Amino acid sequence: MLRSLASLAQPFLLRLDAERAHELAIEALKTGLHPRPGTITGPALQVSLWDLDFPNPLGMAAGFDKSAEVPDALLSTGFGFVEVGTVTPKPQDGNPRPRVFRAPQDNAVINRLGFNNQGHAAVRARLMRRRQTGIVGVNVGANKTSTDKAADYVAGIETFSDLASFFTINISSPNTPGLRDLQHAEQLDDLLVRCVAARDAQQDKGLRRVPLFLKIAPDLEDTDLDDIAQAVTGRSLDGVIVSNTTLSRNGITDPAIAAQAGGLSGKPLFHRATVMLARMRQRLPADMPMIGIGGVESADTAFEKIRAGATLLELYTGLIYGGVDLVETVLTGLTQRLEREGFASVTDAVGTGMDDWAARNLSP
Ligand code: FNR
Repeated sequence: MLRSLASLAQPFLLRLDAERAHELAIEALKTGLHPRPGTITGPALQVSLWDLDFPNPLGMAAGFDKSAEVPDALLSTGFGFVEVGTVTPKPQDGNPRPRVFRAPQDNAVINRLGFNNQGHAAVRARLMRRRQTGIVGVNVGANKTSTDKAADYVAGIETFSDLASFFTINISSPNTPGLRDLQHAEQLDDLLVRCVAARDAQQDKGLRRVPLFLKIAPDLEDTDLDDIAQAVTGRSLDGVIVSNTTLSRNGITDPAIAAQAGGLSGKPLFHRATVMLARMRQRLPADMPMIGIGGVESADTAFEKIRAGATLLELYTGLIYGGVDLVETVLTGLTQRLEREGFASVTDAVGTGMDDWAARNLSP
């Protein structure tokens, strides 16, 4: 019954303005009137990293629940974990509307939201009220007007260290001017030194050692990847997330949508983000986990991300077109695919197609 309600609601949502549809989806999740298969897991799907046991490798990507309004409702749809945020120290409105554009014939979205979120204090208050124990990472960022952007990330780590299962340091949104510059070698090293020091200082106070992930853009040269890998390895980060949205417009049919400023996500991002994931995988120590994002919308796309080098996966745009039923569909199909290919678990399949993916051109 709930399942059929949800699949009826999806075409309705797709007729509304994209951001209004998102607001309604959050409201629906708050009411609990959505499919709730609960925890989806199995021996092939379980992933253990540090002190975290992921029931399955598929997470909700950052940007859907920016202010941590519905992490537990999202977990109940079957996701193995949820990333809330991006959250900035001060609340901010983001860019003027309209700022989210669907490209339905291409299963894609362009957004230029600009980190609209309710800020650290409001998000902290919500996370403190959580009663459930599922894995919730906090994606931290910088305010648009901040003059010391690294200080905003440090503040995020200080604010959420007792609540976050892991942190994502997001330096790859294309919609905050100057943010992607933090990916350049010198600025990046400074940022990582400060973030790691902030995390370690919290650990010294008796808190858990919270793993730190770095989330990067798919619009980077091989030399940028070299620099990032060096900084991440040198500063002993815990993992890398590939990728955020792209500035490329390859795969967008409607010229009016392609002309919109912002970051592109969904199906047209899949190829580029998977190639970048594999190229980064080649540069990182084998035991450093990666999260693969960008165009995951089926068991096959999920499996390819794992082959390219991802231990965990996330999706966002797939949910806009497929609804929350997609979570169970992807995970059921992934279990079957792993078995068919002779892998006992996700972990066994990680990186088995790395060189193949890394050698491909960025456009399919
Ligand atoms: C995003 N994404 C994003 N990422 C991030 O780190 N912080 C954020 O606040 C947001 N906000 C956001 C809003 C919207 C509307 C979209 C569509 C995306 C990027 C997202 O987490 C992911 O990296 C990309 O969307 C690629 O994955 P999919 O959508 O192709 O599965």
